[in-house]
Amino acid sequence: MINNQEPLSAAAVSDNLNTALIGRHVEYFPVVSSTMDAARDLVRKGVPEGTVVIAEEQTAGRGRLARSWLTPQGNIALSVILYPRISHLPEMIMLASLGVARSIEVVTGIKPGIKWPNDILIGGKKVCGILLEADARVSPGERAAYVIIGIGINVNLQPSGFSEIASTATSLSLAAGKAISRVALVRNLLMEMDKLYVELNTGRSLFEKWQKSLVNLGQAVTVTSFDAVFEGTAESVGPDGSLFVRCPDGALRRVVAGDVTLKDNGWK
Ligand code: BTN
Repeated sequence: MINNQEPLSAAAVSDNLNTALIGRHVEYFPVVSSTMDAARDLVRKGVPEGTVVIAEEQTAGRGRLARSWLTPQGNIALSVILYPRISHLPEMIMLASLGVARSIEVVTGIKPGIKWPNDILIGGKKVCGILLEADARVSPGERAAYVIIGIGINVNLQPSGFSEIASTATSLSLAAGKAISRVALVRNLLMEMDKLYVELNTGRSLFEKWQKSLVNLGQAVTVTSFDAVFEGTAESVGPDGSLFVRCPDGALRRVVAGDVTLKDNGWK
């Protein structure tokens, strides 16, 4: 573990941040159950779109598919609150993964891959997980009541020190061979997400960029979706974010939610 982390704070993240919306308002918590819960409380209070919740430590961080999420020292744990148009809901995951991948590249010089549906990988290992929670009931202006994008990035830590993630995860410091500024990374992430949100709101789709960044296409995969587990080749993705898998019997199956494991190297 790398100690003496550069401190995070609302001011360090948001002062002079060059964004239209995302990160104009930041709430920092030294300790919170989950930034997702804190964000949901803020939504109920009517905070502006683009509000960011960031925490040094989560006592009950959660991941996709009801998994728990570790927040060791040196991690980044944050949630971004958006009220997007209903028609943009499928692109929220594209926005989040592209934003994380670009910011990692800008800050570290390392180009990560995106594994469907929303893991960010370096060298085949997970460096970031993304969780989306949404209330899609329509608000005025054909907007979703809320989308909360939760992002957890392993920045300055040694995954080998945590048995739960030792074999499947990496960190930016491990990949780059040096400590990475969490403040620089968060600021960059918010700027990249903001740019992508502006693109979306001015009618440009994020689908092509997202599709090109996916590392699973053409790969043999094991798919877990709800109660089903099956094997095939990840063939393509649709503009709604779904994955098409060619099965050994020739059938093409559409997967809207779930997880895939690449068969050749076994990471998750
Ligand atoms: C996954 O890969 O399963 C998604 C992990 C998402 C973790 C982040 S950390 C910040 C936010 N708060 C949480 O409790 N979860 C997300």
